[in-house]
Amino acid sequence: MRVRVEPAIRLRGDVAPPPDKSVSHRAALLAAMNSEPVRIRNYLDSEDTNATLQALRALGVIVESQPDELVVRGGGLRDLPPLDDPINVANSGTLIRLLPGWLAAQEGGSWTLDGDESIRRRPVDRVARPLTMMGARIEAREGRFPPFTVHGARLHGLDYQMPVASAQVKTCVLLAGLLAYGDVAVTEPLASRDHTERLLARGRVGIVRERGGNGALRVSVSNVDELEIEDIQVPGDLSSAAFLMVAGVLVRGSRLLLRDVGVNWTRSGFVRILERMGGVVVGDFEAQHAPDDIPTYEPVSDIDVTAGPLVGTVVEPHEVPLAIDELPLVALLGAFAEGQTVVRGAAELRVKESDRIAVVCDGLRGLGADIEATEDGFVVVGTDGLEGGRFDSHGDHRLAMLGAVAGLASRDGVEVEGMDSAAISYPLFLEHIGTLA
Ligand code: S3P
Repeated sequence: MRVRVEPAIRLRGDVAPPPDKSVSHRAALLAAMNSEPVRIRNYLDSEDTNATLQALRALGVIVESQPDELVVRGGGLRDLPPLDDPINVANSGTLIRLLPGWLAAQEGGSWTLDGDESIRRRPVDRVARPLTMMGARIEAREGRFPPFTVHGARLHGLDYQMPVASAQVKTCVLLAGLLAYGDVAVTEPLASRDHTERLLARGRVGIVRERGGNGALRVSVSNVDELEIEDIQVPGDLSSAAFLMVAGVLVRGSRLLLRDVGVNWTRSGFVRILERMGGVVVGDFEAQHAPDDIPTYEPVSDIDVTAGPLVGTVVEPHEVPLAIDELPLVALLGAFAEGQTVVRGAAELRVKESDRIAVVCDGLRGLGADIEATEDGFVVVGTDGLEGGRFDSHGDHRLAMLGAVAGLASRDGVEVEGMDSAAISYPLFLEHIGTLA
C-alpha cells in the first residue's frame, strides 16, 4: 500500500485513539487463565491482538464477541491441549514472547509457535533462556529464532536477572511463575511497563515489587491455583496517541483533544521527553508509584495538545524502556527542534518489527533530516523542518505512521511506502488524521 500524505494547514478536533495493544494481549491471556468467564471491554481489533484470540481458541478457550465486549471463557491455569498445527502469532512479538510462559508450565505438552517473515527475524532466546532454567525444553531455529517449540514441564523456582529491560520477557517469566513449584522472581535492570503486574494484582495473585540497585526492579510472584480477575477495561493506546500528539505539536496552529488515553506512568516516558522539548501536552498523567505499590487499574485521561516551538534534548538509557515504541517520534521531533537531539541506550530498537534505528535514520534522511545512526540510538540536528519525499516503512506499522506524521508536518508532503497489510492501527490512523486535517 502506498499513501501520499499532504502537508496539513493545521489540525483541529478530537479523537479517541485505538485501544491499547499491550493491555489487550495481556487481558486476553490472563482472562483465558481465569477459571470464571471474564468480560473485556475496548479490546483492540487488529491482526496482532486477533492472533492472540485465535491462539487461545486453538487452545480450547471460548472467546465470544459481543457488541461492546469480549467474553473469554477459559478453563483455568492447567491442562492445555497439545496441538498438531503451529500457533500462528502473525506479526506479534508480544504474543510470541508471552504465551510460552504459560505453555512451558503444561507438563507433557508441546506447542510450536511461528509467525510472519518479520517475526522469524526476532530473537526468542530471551524467553527460552529463563524458561529452560525453570525446567522447560525449547527448540528454536538456529537456537534463537522462530519457529520454535515449547515442551512443557513441571517448572521449578527461579530468581532471574534479565540482561536487558523488557516487559515481554518479564511477563513471560511471571506467567510461568504462576504455575511453578517454587519461588519465582525476575529483576529488570530498568523499569519497563507494568500492565502485567497490575492485572495479576487485580487477579489476587501474591505479587511483590521491590527496588534493586541502580534503578533495577525485582518482581516476585506466588504460584496460585486460580486467577480471580473480574472485568477488564482496556484504555486507549498511548503509543498510538503519541503519533497524533506529535502531529499536533509539529503542525502550526494545531489544537487536538485525544480522549480516554491510558496514562500509566510506565508508558508515558515519551510525554515527559516531549514536554522537555517544549511540547505543550496537558493531561492528568499518572505520577510514579513506589515500587511496593502496585495499582490494580489502568488510569485514563483526555490529553490536550497545542503546536509550538521545540528544543533538542538527550534521552538517557533509563528513559528508553518507558518510551521504547515512541523513540522514532523523538527522531522526527529532533528534526524540527532547535539544536541537537540524542537518543542512547536504545539498541533494542534494532530487534523490533524492523531495525528501527536504520529504518528511521534512512527514512528521515531521505525527507531532508540531518540524522545519523549510532550503535544504540541516533543523533539528529534540527534543520527547521523537513522537505518531504518518499518514506519506506519496511512493513513496520509504527514507522508507516511516522512517515505519515512527517508528511503532515513537511513542506512538500510524503509518500509512505512498504506497508502492505492492514496490520495494526495504520488505516485507522490515516482515517483519524483525515478527520483532523
Ligand atoms: C511490549 C513491550 C515492548 C514493546 C512492545 C510491546 C509489551 O517490548 O516494544 O511493542 O507489550 O510488553 P520489550 O518489552 O521487548 O522491549
